[in-house]
Amino acid sequence: MSKFNLRISFVIILTFCFSALRVNLMHASTTKSAINQLYLDEMDLTKGTCGWKTMRSKLSVGGNPIKIATVTYARGVGTHAPGEITIKTNGASRFTSKIGIDDETNGNGTVEFIVYGNQTIIYQSGIMRGNAAAKSIDLDISAYAYLRLIVTIADGSNNNDHADWADALLEYETVKPVCIKAAELPWTEFRNKTVHYALPNKNLQFRLNVYGVQPITVNVTNLPVGIEFDSKRNILYGKISQEGVYNIPVSATNIYGTIEKTFKIEISNKLKMPTPPMGWMTWNIYRGEISETKIKQTADVMVSSGMRDAGYNYIIIDDLWQGTRDASGKISPNATKFPSGIKALADYVHAIGLKLGIYSDAADNTCGGAVGSLNKEVIDAQTYASWGIDYLKYDYCNAPADQATAINRYKAMADALNNSGRDMVFAACEWGDRNPWEWAAEKSNAQLWRTTWDIRDTWEFNDGDKNHYGIMNSLDRHIGLEYYAGPNRWNDPDMMVVGLYGTGIPSNAFGANGCTDREYQANMSLWAMIAAPLITSFELKTINDATKDILLNKEVIAINQDTLGDAATRIFKDGDIEVWARDLYDGGKAVAFLNRNNTVTKNISVNWSNLFIEGSYDIRDLWKHQLVGTSNTSFNTNVLAHEVVLLKLSKVDNANAVQLLKKTDNWNCFVQDKHLKINYSQPENGIVEIMLADSYGKQVLLKSITNFLSDKITADFDVSNLPSGVYFCRLKYANRISTKKVIL
Ligand code: GLA
Repeated sequence: MSKFNLRISFVIILTFCFSALRVNLMHASTTKSAINQLYLDEMDLTKGTCGWKTMRSKLSVGGNPIKIATVTYARGVGTHAPGEITIKTNGASRFTSKIGIDDETNGNGTVEFIVYGNQTIIYQSGIMRGNAAAKSIDLDISAYAYLRLIVTIADGSNNNDHADWADALLEYETVKPVCIKAAELPWTEFRNKTVHYALPNKNLQFRLNVYGVQPITVNVTNLPVGIEFDSKRNILYGKISQEGVYNIPVSATNIYGTIEKTFKIEISNKLKMPTPPMGWMTWNIYRGEISETKIKQTADVMVSSGMRDAGYNYIIIDDLWQGTRDASGKISPNATKFPSGIKALADYVHAIGLKLGIYSDAADNTCGGAVGSLNKEVIDAQTYASWGIDYLKYDYCNAPADQATAINRYKAMADALNNSGRDMVFAACEWGDRNPWEWAAEKSNAQLWRTTWDIRDTWEFNDGDKNHYGIMNSLDRHIGLEYYAGPNRWNDPDMMVVGLYGTGIPSNAFGANGCTDREYQANMSLWAMIAAPLITSFELKTINDATKDILLNKEVIAINQDTLGDAATRIFKDGDIEVWARDLYDGGKAVAFLNRNNTVTKNISVNWSNLFIEGSYDIRDLWKHQLVGTSNTSFNTNVLAHEVVLLKLSKVDNANAVQLLKKTDNWNCFVQDKHLKINYSQPENGIVEIMLADSYGKQVLLKSITNFLSDKITADFDVSNLPSGVYFCRLKYANRISTKKVIL
């Protein structure tokens, strides 16, 4: 087994078993030794988070000597809300600091300082304003394995929130405290969506991401009929035939205790976006230089180039289409850019089989300075509906920074759209600043949300500015976010840059000057893997063959549009080499090998059994369009610099392969005289489980039978105590399962 194979097994165990650092809270020692001191400014601050620029040691976040209410401090850390420094105390006993807003804001800014010992707040400053005298903190921290030093936004905006932990000092006896990433905290928690959407009767897969110290025992109850729990991967899977909302209580237990949470599976025929949207958007190529002529021409090329038929069906007008509002508040488009009006344009694109999207912002003004929709949500939604709009991208410039306001403002527009009488997709665009994956679907009715600031036409920014995104920076942002994606709820890392070659107006900012075709191919492969919207923005009139080969690759599009809606997990990383994998509807898998090295080709070998596959799979290269092996042998390929090799693993029909969810149709069940009867010819000895559930999926009977085989008997259960109605009877034998409807 190669080094890679060994490592891949290790990483998979990490990913699927959710192990984490084991931490011992019991650190108290009986023999006292000398007290040592460690200034916060001597610790590794790169592990912390800072709401603007980066934290500074012995300086304010703006780079000046630390100064609070005219007092200067030689030691300390300058940061910016919202931010956190997370410390593993290693038994430290005391934390002291002077806190306040730095004088460099000239009296502006409002923040609150909060200190957690483990999961308990042990200090809270209350709201502190610029110019206020520093407050003193002196805390006994000997009972806590972890300390979290937090500065929060106190007034809805983080403007001028320059916060200082002046003279901050830790006292310890033997082992130095260390900074860790907040993500490394050991408590058990679920880091995944709370609602999974799915269509009736379609395979679904809901991945629970249980985080914390191993071992963790996950317990799932009240499973609806048709749904199983795979405890090896913490996945709920199966299918549900009836529309409705199914509640699933889940608990997770480790040495810190038990947490409980109820998740939902919502089955509906009316999902607006069961697979990620595909299309073309104006912004990255044209910025505000848009017009109805350009958009019609683009729409025509979407048809003639084959883009429409490949699935790219949305054409989205981004910012700077707006004119002014009339006396009633109704908005009109800019008459020079759109002399025939938006309705005429919508009619045009609809007539050729495309859909039309538009843009606005949850504030008075958009990012480009045009008229926004704040407090005009209802009239704007009605106007868009009357024009025949199908999709709204809703931006968040000029709006308050806090999450609560964002939730409300997005919900206000979603409600207005939903009451407008026309089906419109709702795409939230607050750039991932307020963790929209945790609320945009659940609370604000969005079908997708941006996860990053605007993408630029380059492979990667290495300038340390966390607001500069190339293809790789966007990809990195998605680690851990796969657990929040799924049908009708997609992470959006912004448009693909494929086809731009440095020609876009905003997409060439910060020195971005285009990518190679190989990099564009990687962009397409990775966006397909992470189930991102496949939305392009380039001069479609000049589309060349290389771009067509990339964008029209039906096999790659099929990965992106796979109806299971699973988003890829990075299952392996070793330096420049990464492996990403996602599950597919038909039981197959898509696997991407990425080489991030700038010059060197890497050879990657993989032992497929490490990918949790069972049975035999064909391996197909989706860019070469050919079979390249089977899972029965190990696989080896060269991956060029900045290349992605994209493979699809398809299950070979094999009698020995494990067939979960296979219908065992040689059984039946029926009700006679208030008795449930089951006939089954069991192929060999083994336990058969019979479960009966009501129409809401609630289990009302569970029995195990061992003698179908020997006696060929009919199992018979008295169900006279159950009310009449529709029930579902499920038979489970070995790895096969089947459900039938019965009427009582
Ligand atoms: C923000 C968005 C972009 C684009 C512009 C328009 O920057 O993130 O995608 O919509 O606004 O002004």
